[in-house]
Amino acid sequence: MPSKKLKFHTRICDVLGIEYPIIQAGMGGFSDPPLVIAVSEAGGLGTLGGAVYEPDTLDQAIREIRKGTSKPFAIDLLLPDSLKDMEGVSKKGLMSYIPENYFDYAKELRKKFDIPDDYHSNRGGALWTMEGTRQLLQVCLDNKVPVIAAGLGRLGWVMPECKKRGIKTIGIGANVKMALKHVEDQVDVIVAQGYDAGGHTGNIGTMSVVPQIVDAVKPIPVAAAGGIADGRGLVAALALGAEGVWCGSMFLLSPEATFTEGQKDRVIAATERDAVITKAISGKTLRQLRTPFTEVWDKGPLPPLGWPFHNLLTLDIVDYAYEHKDQGKYDAILVTPCSQATRLLNQRRTSKQIIDDMIKGAIEDLDKGIPGRVQWK
Ligand SMILES: Cc1cc2nc3c(=O)[nH]c(=O)nc-3n(C[C@H](O)[C@H](O)[C@H](O)COP(=O)(O)O)c2cc1C
Repeated sequence: MPSKKLKFHTRICDVLGIEYPIIQAGMGGFSDPPLVIAVSEAGGLGTLGGAVYEPDTLDQAIREIRKGTSKPFAIDLLLPDSLKDMEGVSKKGLMSYIPENYFDYAKELRKKFDIPDDYHSNRGGALWTMEGTRQLLQVCLDNKVPVIAAGLGRLGWVMPECKKRGIKTIGIGANVKMALKHVEDQVDVIVAQGYDAGGHTGNIGTMSVVPQIVDAVKPIPVAAAGGIADGRGLVAALALGAEGVWCGSMFLLSPEATFTEGQKDRVIAATERDAVITKAISGKTLRQLRTPFTEVWDKGPLPPLGWPFHNLLTLDIVDYAYEHKDQGKYDAILVTPCSQATRLLNQRRTSKQIIDDMIKGAIEDLDKGIPGRVQWK
């Protein structure tokens, strides 16, 4: 007999047209169509990590998602303000801003980590250039994707086009100042992302930042993010005034995530001390499992460059490791972003199971757990 469908409904479900207030976070390189389809089919909102795509591959990915599900999904892009200062500059042009001594140091690191001298990443420039980013946005607009999320930066400049097409929008903030910019831009949902989060993250803890953003952006609904990985986390998010969650790390152990079995094993074995903040990869604060590469860079002689220059500097090293991710040799570099909730990330489950367990856990906690721990009448 099929199990009874559980009801767990908030305003975010109405705004985004989903069954459960669980948004799978955009994770560039890790959340591709299989994960998006699985999460959306399970009643959450699947989000493609669209920033690492090129316009043609993004278009294909959107078609693939639509073949796999008729439910809403989102595309996450990185739209930092610094892009506007680089209008008209190509990927090669951006490289020319990087000081020579940084290239010398990168050469030393290539040698140290055994990256062949003649290897050059063939990734296009969409992620780093204003023109490429505009093209990625255009693909989203042309396809009338249900939701666009801005992982970095603001959506105000595309908002009229989104509204015209009925596209919903999600803005991410790691502090009140950023959240208020999303209010000004009239986004539909604001993610309040805490320091605990995997990937690029801010410096205020989830418990502190969520209620402050909730108060500041009322009546816009907020999804809490950062270290949320089970039903208790969902209940805690609601207690802080959020109306849903934006979760990335929780989905990394699923068969649908673009994660190697080795990366999954490392996340399962990790303790909360292993998910460190590093600027080694992108120059921005990023939480990932510590590697020899992050250790060497973070203790090295040069301060990180800003976005996107640092990312471009380390591109060959990072991409070579990624292309050889099935050979253990390059695990010393391989980027494995992960939240501080490491010990909660301890079993391989499908995305559907992860969502079902989160909803079931939250209902049990609301029904029995919390009433069993506190008397207030
Ligand atoms: C593997 C991984 C990759 C990420 N990549 C992106 C990205 O490309 N764009 C983005 O907006 N956020 C990215 N993030 C951050 C997530 O969107 C989200 O804020 C975070 O996962 C929430 O915290 P949690 O990991 O504790 O669930 C990434 C996070 C992880 C774990």
